[in-house]
Amino acid sequence: MVGPGLQQPDSHHLIHEMAWQEANTIQSVIERLWQTNAVEQFVEATGIFIEVVESRILSHAIEEERGLYPSWLAMNNAWTAVVASFIEDHDHLRRLIHRLKDITRQAYYSEVLPLIAEFLKQSHAHSDREETFMGKVDNGDRKERFFMIPPQSLRGQVSADVSDLTRLVVNVAYKSMM
Ligand SMILES: [Fe+2]
Ligand SMILES: [Fe+2]
Repeated sequence: MVGPGLQQPDSHHLIHEMAWQEANTIQSVIERLWQTNAVEQFVEATGIFIEVVESRILSHAIEEERGLYPSWLAMNNAWTAVVASFIEDHDHLRRLIHRLKDITRQAYYSEVLPLIAEFLKQSHAHSDREETFMGKVDNGDRKERFFMIPPQSLRGQVSADVSDLTRLVVNVAYKSMM
């Protein structure tokens, strides 16, 4: 069973956009903490980044693999290769987060920010590929509507909707500046 939020291109895009915005906010905070040498808060904020990614991005990937992708294959089994490539994207993202946990545990802190940047780049590229494919799967009317959504206006809509975890990481950064 696939929720309507995943099947509709515009709401699926919004799910990607919200997760992306939240992860980016935390990335900026982690950068600031690194620059100010606030190591304890830097480690704490990195842990929160991992939690946000797991709850917003990796859990979204599991939902797709269990519901959305099988529904595409039921529509057309010629899409097997593209679905396999999306699952490979997800696996790559999982490996990057596994690596991020390892380097944080081993205190290789200088590797944290480049790895986070790589994760966000790959995650964004995957979302773009998935949304482009969804635009093709969708019918003409909905496809047009999907491509007409101005990303900036979506960013405006979701900017106030940050999770408790993001609020927490911003508080961590704020405390380090006191
Ligand atoms: Fe995905
Ligand atoms: Fe997605």
